[in-house]
Amino acid sequence: MEFFEVIKNRRSCRNLEPVEIPEEDIEKILDAGRRATSGLNKQPYDFLLVREKENIEKIAAAQGFISNASAVIVIIAKPDVSQFWLEDVSAAAENMHLAVTALGYGTTWIEGTLLKKEQELKKHFNIPENMRFIIALPIGKPASEGSQSPKRKLEDIVYRESR
Ligand SMILES: Cc1cc2nc3c(=O)[nH]c(=O)nc-3n(C[C@H](O)[C@H](O)[C@H](O)COP(=O)(O)O)c2cc1C
Repeated sequence: MEFFEVIKNRRSCRNLEPVEIPEEDIEKILDAGRRATSGLNKQPYDFLLVREKENIEKIAAAQGFISNASAVIVIIAKPDVSQFWLEDVSAAAENMHLAVTALGYGTTWIEGTLLKKEQELKKHFNIPENMRFIIALPIGKPASEGSQSPKRKLEDIVYRESR
């Protein structure tokens, strides 16, 4: 898919069907995350790949539709490594979201609903205390058509030279 088509087609897809995701595609998505920009190039994160149904179900406790995902990539943040950790994990998540779109799969950036479950998920997945189980990307086949949520118009948000 052409780059600007990917940008336009990226959407939060919560209606997922299980699908076979070859390891090669998973690696392309992870590599897109690894290549994201980060403050001072500190790359303050690890990526956790979850493929087993039983483990996916644990994450689905945060949001039910995750059960239908065939893989979940979790960004584990390391706040001790960089003051810019939140921006850095966000850049990695966006890169991966775009890669998922380019490959024809669907995903949603899951963060808000993870918060309440973070402690138990950290325990289950052996995440050290000083790290954050911060963003999950459940990946599957889009089960229905859909489009990106409406965005504000450029003319409403762009100022030139002065606000
Ligand atoms: C920081 C952040 C947290 C989010 N948390 C959740 C979440 O917990 N659950 C969810 O279903 N969507 C979550 N989303 C997805 C947004 O709701 C979604 O991106 C937004 O509605 C815009 O839709 P679009 O992705 O189709 O443009 C989150 C997105 C971001 C950037």
